[in-house]
Amino acid sequence: MVTESFLTLPQLELPSKGGSITVTAPSNIALVKYWGKSQGQIPRNASISFTLSNCFTKTTLGFTPFSEQSKAGQEMVNDLDDSNFEVFVDGLSKPDFAPKIATFFNRIEAYLPWIRSFQWRIDTENTFPHGSGIASSASGFAALAGALMELENSWSLDPLPPELRAQKTSFLARLGSGSASRSVLGPLMYWGTHPALPASSDLFACILDQEVHAVFIDYKDTILLVDQGEKEVSSTLGHNLMHDHPFANQRFDQAQDNLGKLLAVLACGDTHEFCRIVETEALSLHAMMMTSNPSYLLMKPNTLAIIEKVRIFRRANNVPVCFTLDAGANVHLLYPAKFTPQVMPWIQNELSGHCQAGQFIEDQVGQGVKKV
Ligand code: DP6
Repeated sequence: MVTESFLTLPQLELPSKGGSITVTAPSNIALVKYWGKSQGQIPRNASISFTLSNCFTKTTLGFTPFSEQSKAGQEMVNDLDDSNFEVFVDGLSKPDFAPKIATFFNRIEAYLPWIRSFQWRIDTENTFPHGSGIASSASGFAALAGALMELENSWSLDPLPPELRAQKTSFLARLGSGSASRSVLGPLMYWGTHPALPASSDLFACILDQEVHAVFIDYKDTILLVDQGEKEVSSTLGHNLMHDHPFANQRFDQAQDNLGKLLAVLACGDTHEFCRIVETEALSLHAMMMTSNPSYLLMKPNTLAIIEKVRIFRRANNVPVCFTLDAGANVHLLYPAKFTPQVMPWIQNELSGHCQAGQFIEDQVGQGVKKV
């Protein structure tokens, strides 16, 4: 039903001249992980994440209408490809990004058919260092979907109401990268159907609008850059390995269960139970990688050294700081903002030595896509 509503196209007045739009979209960090999907970017379990703030992608989307003649030629082409767009990262042409963007454009065309009427120029830059091991696909596709929806909105004679527009943005972002669906709004976003969340959908993420305890509103995420190389195994490959993984069904059940428990924790502010669930999720994600066929390992010795120190520090100081991981070796340290004076010197003195070139990024919970 929702897909149908996204297929109902608004009446648009397309511009006869070219122009551009700029948006930013943040990265997000999952508390309950999305790992495993079915055809059509449908998650096998529900996930929930903090939207971040300082780690974001800024995308300027330039458009030039095709002349009537070249447009007629275009309509004969079946698939959208890199003749329809150019991609630049930090001002440099990046043809190697074209296949992923082409797949995205072809997936979204049914919902935004007007994309075929223009030649596109995608100029993108990330605030986090390139190759830092921080996934740019979540923020990148959220920014692209956000920019396209800004255009549709500005050309629409009957713009979508804000809630439906956010849903469609998330729906489109999901078709680029599943986790991108959760970067559209903030501070907490869930994606995937879950019995405790009546509005939940596999097709788009929703903002968590239940009561959230004040402690979680300004949570910190300090990202320890353990390994800044390219990932050895892509997320896409990792998701695929869940198809005939021996523990897949147990994992999907565990995630659903953890999400239910986390909702209660987010309401009551029990930060110690928060730490327990979030760390279990991180290690379960990596356990899936270690027990897939073929197996692989993305954690590095420094990842484990940090994990051990986090647990020792938490016990010794009774500070609710916990770790989580995405599909890489970097460690995200999550903690309430009020503990920053205790946590930051410890990071600097004890943990930064485990980071490549001593580097870490200070981030916190944020709000999602913004028009610049
Ligand atoms: C480990 O969203 O990158 O970060 O849908 O194939 O693009 P695709 O995968 P992706 O998977 C990210 C998985 C994760 C956990 C999470 O963010 O929930």
